[in-house]
Order: sequence, then C-alpha cells, then structure tokens
Amino acid sequence: MKRIGILTGGGDCPGLNAVIRAAVRTLIRDHEMEVVGIQSGFEGLLTKQIVPLTLDSIRGILPKGGTLLRTTNRGNPFEYPTGDGGCEDRSQLVVDNARELGIDGVIAIGGDGTLKIAQRLCDMGIPMVAVPKTIDNDLAATDYTFGFHTAVAVATDAVDRLHSTAESHDRVMILEVMGRNAGWIALYAGLAGGADIILIPEMPYRPEVIAHQVRDRQAEGAKFDIIVVAEGAKRVGGEEAYLDKATRRLGGIAYQVAADIQQEIDLEIRVTVLGHIQRGGSPIPFDRILASRFGKVAADLVARQQFGEMVALRQEEIVSVPIKDAVSRPKYVDPHGQVVSTARSLGISFGDGL
Ligand code: F6P
Repeated sequence: MKRIGILTGGGDCPGLNAVIRAAVRTLIRDHEMEVVGIQSGFEGLLTKQIVPLTLDSIRGILPKGGTLLRTTNRGNPFEYPTGDGGCEDRSQLVVDNARELGIDGVIAIGGDGTLKIAQRLCDMGIPMVAVPKTIDNDLAATDYTFGFHTAVAVATDAVDRLHSTAESHDRVMILEVMGRNAGWIALYAGLAGGADIILIPEMPYRPEVIAHQVRDRQAEGAKFDIIVVAEGAKRVGGEEAYLDKATRRLGGIAYQVAADIQQEIDLEIRVTVLGHIQRGGSPIPFDRILASRFGKVAADLVARQQFGEMVALRQEEIVSVPIKDAVSRPKYVDPHGQVVSTARSLGISFGDGL
C-alpha cells in the first residue's frame, strides 16, 4: 500500500483544511492509499514529525479556518537558519527522511515560496503534487486561488461597516487590506463594498487626484468617502510602506495616504488596517468547493503518478499544470482590464490620472 504525505506551507488561508479533507478522502476511498500529515510544512520532514490522517481524524474540519497540519513561512530546507544568523542547505536530509519514513509521494499545499521548494525537492527525487493557496490570488496559472473570495468577503464586510461611521460623522475612512504586490483584494472588496477610491500597487496614486475626488464628491453633496488601499500600493515615484523593511513585511500605507491628503481636504480622516482578520475564520462556500475540488484532483494526480504537477482552475475545470510554469508567472490587476473599467464607470477613482 502506497503511503502519501500531505503538508501545508506558508501563511494560513481559509480552505486549507478543506483541501486536506478532500485529498485524504479521495486517497483512502478511491485509491486505497495510506495518508500521513507532515507537520509544519517541510519542517516536518526535517524533524520527522508525521501523524496518521484517517477518515476519523479529518472529521469536522471542512468549515474550519487555519490548518490542521500547522504551517510556517520560515524553515526553507534549502536555506535553513542555523541560529547564528547564517543558513545552510538541508534539502538532502529532507529527501533522506522522506525515504526513511516510507513516503511515496507528497501533496504540498502552499503559496509561491512553498511551490518553489516543492519543485526543487521534486527534482531531487521526492514525487510531488502541488496545490496553490493564497488569499492574494496572484498566480497566473489558476483563475482563482482558494481563500481569496473569503478574504474579499471579510474585507467587503469591513467596508460596509466603515460606511456607518463615514456617513454618520462626515469622515474619510481608509481601509488597508492585504494582497502583497497584487491589488486583487482591494479591487474586489472596493467594488463589492461601493468604495469611492481604490488604491492598488498596479496603479501608483497621486495624492492630489485623491483630494480632487474627495472635493468633487463634496460638491455633489456626498460628505464622506471610503478609500480601500492595498498594502502594496504606493505613490507615483514613491515606495511601498513596510512594517519591517528587512523582511519586506508590507503594512502601513493607509497612514501614508492619510498624511498625503490631510492638508488638502477639510474632512476628518480615520484609518483601519484589517490585517490577519481577512485570513482567518471559516471559508465561504466558494472556497470550500474550490479547495475540495483541488484536493480531489491532487489525489488523483498522485494515484496516476503525475508528479511535478500543480492543480489549477481554468474556466470551471480543474486542470493540472507543471509546478515550474506556475511559480514563474505572477498575476496582477490589469489597469486596462474590464474590472477596473467597470469600477471607473461607477465613479470609483484609482487615484491616478488628472
Ligand atoms: O500572502 C498572504 C499574506 O497574507 C499577504 O497578503 C500578506 O502580505 C502576508 O501574507 C502577511 O504575512 P505574515 O502572516 O507573515 O505577516
């Protein structure tokens, strides 16, 4: 009987447990395989921490956020931190341990970083199938990643709630959302929530354009504004805002936007940074279904020994693409695309132009 390992790497994301559940069920029920969970991403192959995954142990996890298997966005085996500020390559140990643990194949569920590691370990001899995950939705290989729509739902709810204060107090409310260097969450939540201004990394903003939009709306009788800003947005000629420049952790651009427009307008401004709230909690049905479909097809790829492949959504179908191709092509918002043009027709400003 073949023994298959499943791991989750990188940041947590709504729908991880749904993938695990679907893959375990399909591997056991359709392919009569044994399944083990590898704890904390590839780290679990260094420390040999595995747990049996059975139909019993995965019961009830479908609606749960986070990951049953734990995760980490540190511990890349190719650059493993030695504790003294340096790092070393421990990838061969991962390969040896996988063999020793009798693992015949691995389903790696993760973002960009995890997929790159999975590809390299696959080249070194660990049979690997990948499942893409990120709330950022920034992978060109798949129409959507699971977790994205849940993040958009949470961010949209935040926009709705901020409308209450904006309208009651005649204020400009700025909401900062995640997404790294892609503006998808900001664009979708801004459009769904009826924001007045959306600022995304793909379209650097000019403070004077934002101020102009605020004054225009005032002239039309609207005394408040909702601005949704993606964490990776920046001013024309400016830089991204980092919480920690060394590790390139983005955050704080909403405060920069507030400072940029404060002198130009006569409304009070308040800032909300949504943070990890948009990454936690129960996945919405769309993400549960997409994650379940990914898990099932990943298990089928393992059974057919189609290793080095990643599952992806293409026009309603789950297909497989080489992991190599997937990691090399990010997906950004097209400033000339239909979603942006729809937003513009509805009167939403992107802080560009003028
Ligand atoms: O990639 C997912 C994501 O949530 C990004 O949107 C965000 O920039 C980053 O991860 C935050 O990472 P961490 O959880 O390490 O702070």
